Amino acid sequence: MPNNEFGDFQTPEPLAASLLATLPARNWARVLEPTAGTGAFLAAARKAFPRAELLGVEVQTKHAERARRFAPVLHADLFTLNLADDLPYRTAAGPTLVIGNPPWVTNSQLSVLDSANRPPRGNVRRDRGIDAITGRANFDVGEAVWLHLLRALAGSDATVALLCKTQVARNVLRHCARHALPIESATIRRIDARRWFGASVDACWFTVALRYQVPIRYRAAVYPDLDAGIPEHVLQVRDGRLIRDLDRRPDLLDLDGRCPLPWRQGIKHDAAAVMELVAVDGRPVSSSGDRIDIEPEYLYPLFKCTDVYHGRTRTAARWMVVPQRHPGEPTQPLAAGAPQLWQYLTHHAAALDGRRSRIYRNRARFGIFGVGPYTFEPYKIAVSGLHKRPCFQLVGPITGRPAVFDDATYLLPFHDPAEAAVVHALLCAEPIQALLAAISFPDSKRPITKAVLQRIDLAAALRRIDRHQLLAHATAQLDRLGSAGDPATTADILAARWAAPGNA
Ligand SMILES: C[S@@+](CC[C@H](N)C(=O)[O-])C[C@H]1O[C@@H](n2cnc3c(N)ncnc32)[C@H](O)[C@@H]1O
Repeated sequence: MPNNEFGDFQTPEPLAASLLATLPARNWARVLEPTAGTGAFLAAARKAFPRAELLGVEVQTKHAERARRFAPVLHADLFTLNLADDLPYRTAAGPTLVIGNPPWVTNSQLSVLDSANRPPRGNVRRDRGIDAITGRANFDVGEAVWLHLLRALAGSDATVALLCKTQVARNVLRHCARHALPIESATIRRIDARRWFGASVDACWFTVALRYQVPIRYRAAVYPDLDAGIPEHVLQVRDGRLIRDLDRRPDLLDLDGRCPLPWRQGIKHDAAAVMELVAVDGRPVSSSGDRIDIEPEYLYPLFKCTDVYHGRTRTAARWMVVPQRHPGEPTQPLAAGAPQLWQYLTHHAAALDGRRSRIYRNRARFGIFGVGPYTFEPYKIAVSGLHKRPCFQLVGPITGRPAVFDDATYLLPFHDPAEAAVVHALLCAEPIQALLAAISFPDSKRPITKAVLQRIDLAAALRRIDRHQLLAHATAQLDRLGSAGDPATTADILAARWAAPGNA
């Protein structure tokens, strides 16, 4: 088996020693290293906590043998152990410290490696079926280790301190809140993963202290490094949702609610070479320069998330082939109804039929996702999901055609340009930008998500944001689009609509 499946990055011993030095001084009775590797943490713990009983678990035989230089190490798969009963401690129960650096590998990477190294339950966080299929449910094996440990140790006097991705730490904190696990305190200390592991990933030393009965607060002070004495912000879970920096901006609380408009994701097709065409002199050509003749009603001006982020949305440099108006629409009728398009798609059938994602199975041939009536609305507010700063762009029709976006872009569709202009003014206003900075995480792969955007309470924003400023912004957007409209009346209509029961 390739070592990759074990997410195998051994921790340098000096780092392990520095990590242990950040922990509160306590008389630990037991120290457990659940994924001991070659034993760096056990070696450091032997020095830092000479009176504690040390125990390791490691799945790879050779690593376990090497780690036994420092402490007894059980050769086992952690996920098959009942951690409350199966561990052969010699000392009586007492304050327990769990330390280590669990695997840095995701569930989907394991699938590629054809590995079974994962917890027995396939769906660790109990995600919804569709999330499991689309990858939203993809989880880190390190996260599964965290949940396995916390479930076993909840209710005991234990502290768990593990190196992990910062995103994993946030997920775990939210999980603890959802499942009411009794946490006394938690801290996140960022580490320089490039320096220590040569990995370009946001990683941290995450510490969670569990106790029997404490006032439960799902908060984690976030420190920039191992030495800092003052946290850069405090991460917390409120109503099951993560938020940071709330202490500095309590005024943002009333804006963190429910967006009255449904955010949509751009089109997903997993076949850029076929579905995305370059615009040359306003005509679609393939990436290799061949002119493409397709019925024009199936071609739409395309903006990618990077275009959106940089505001390059006045003219389109690309077009997208959009063969369906919704994902359930059959495509076979295109053979007669749009013969040029059908010929083009069948010419590229190998690429389209060969799309690996499960979502294309048992669907219309050449089908796409992220398409619906909203795709064909003339005005959209778009924002890139992949960039750290949310730059909202209001995009109107391009040469009379509604613009479409890639699946790394989120959008709100509008029929009425004045509505789009007013909502754009709200989204660009300082309080909403500050809210997004407080509820999104720049170190995530996708800092802006649909879930984050869906938290923007536009109705509260409309009540709060200076009306003069709002109307000036909306009027300027309408002028830019060359559209007529009355932002003042529109703002009043939206306020009334969003205040109505049902809120939309
Ligand atoms: C990132 S390495 C870290 C090793 C060690 N904790 C350290 O800090 O040097 C992860 C370790 O977890 C071990 N591992 C992976 N899956 C495991 C499992 N299911 N049970 C126990 N150990 C596992 C790997 O073999 C590897 O040694």
